[in-house]
Amino acid sequence: MSKWDAIWLNAQLATMQAGRPYGLIQDGAIGVKAGTIAWVGKRTELPGSPETLADAVFEAGGCWITPGLIDCHTHLVYAGNRAREFELRLQGASYEEIARAGGGIRSTVAATREASPELLTATAERRLRALRSQGVTTVEIKSGYGLDLETEVKMLRVARSLAEHQPVTIRTTFLGAHALPVEFEGRSDAYIDFVCAEVLPVVAQEGLVDAVDAFCEGIGFSPAQTVRVFEAAQRWGLPVKLHADQLSDLGGAALAAQFRALSAEHLEYTSVEGVAAMASAGTVAVLLPGAFYFLRETQLPPVAQFRQHGVPMAIATDCNPGSSPTTSPLLMLNMACTLFQLTPEEALTGMTRNAALALGLAEQRGTLAVGQAADFVLWDIEQPAELAYSIGGNPCLNVIKAGFPALPPAEFPQPN
Ligand code: NIG
Ligand code: FE
Repeated sequence: MSKWDAIWLNAQLATMQAGRPYGLIQDGAIGVKAGTIAWVGKRTELPGSPETLADAVFEAGGCWITPGLIDCHTHLVYAGNRAREFELRLQGASYEEIARAGGGIRSTVAATREASPELLTATAERRLRALRSQGVTTVEIKSGYGLDLETEVKMLRVARSLAEHQPVTIRTTFLGAHALPVEFEGRSDAYIDFVCAEVLPVVAQEGLVDAVDAFCEGIGFSPAQTVRVFEAAQRWGLPVKLHADQLSDLGGAALAAQFRALSAEHLEYTSVEGVAAMASAGTVAVLLPGAFYFLRETQLPPVAQFRQHGVPMAIATDCNPGSSPTTSPLLMLNMACTLFQLTPEEALTGMTRNAALALGLAEQRGTLAVGQAADFVLWDIEQPAELAYSIGGNPCLNVIKAGFPALPPAEFPQPN
């Protein structure tokens, strides 16, 4: 047997494999070869001494290791902020009213069109660093603040390039059907034609996208328009996702399921029929407690129904300037429990195994198992429930990307 590149010893492993709570392995070890997990199990069952097995031997000092967190829904690349809109909402204006008055997503579109790629890169890099400091190793990033060819391409190129400067895996999603740009006012069908015929072919051919998303909502696009976007995605062989049933029930979850979507997201207003359709299609429910909290929503997503129908639930930050200005995945785990009543184990599964599923990456990421990417996190905790328990804490000791520490520990905040 050729030697492993690295071995990690003396850790409590929350493998997140199904079958037992957190997939726990006490006093575990992980062997890494070529960036992939080559062995995982109890230290006492290792097939030799650590030095004979691996070139580099790392001591985890008894801390906990989980799979790298996967933030499967973000709008990380954007310019400007919407603090003024936050003030207006606190004075009584609704998210929808602000959007209909030309603010909301459109104001971020104006700022993002103006911004240079350098500025977009610098601000996104800061947000990405914050996500990584709390254990994130894979991030999905959507376009959708350009809404013209040039800016959608600019956003996606910036998103892809982030992985060149930080050790992280990036997946990109084309969200051209996010909002109606001002130049298409009153012509939303023409805008959908433009998205399908002029923008999607360019970003698909340039290899800039892994999936296609849309915002199916009264202030977004209709189910019929969403169908046209999904059909165009299918012509390009791209899987689909959907911002569905966030502010009202337009049947978005069922529509996503009809197109075998990887995931449907938000889902506060999803009906039982929508849940059942998602279950049969294997569509993941991506729940976004940050947006629910920040928009002060009261309609809860049908979590009990998702459980009953066996729909996998994922949790993400939805990092964006309008509805979820956060870069804290751990706070989202906490909110998933306090606001949506997930268990801490369901929440963590939602940011590991089920988040991988929502990105079509279940074969490569999301658990500590042989054959999976060797992306994992060292935590200063005594039990995994602490990851969801703390409000605003960060017990991350280090992030391991492809088997090796991604940054010197000193660059990460100290636990509190
Ligand atoms: O996921 N719902 C639509 N899109 C984003 C919000 C975008 C914005 O307000 O800028 C979301 O919540
Ligand atoms: Fe979103």
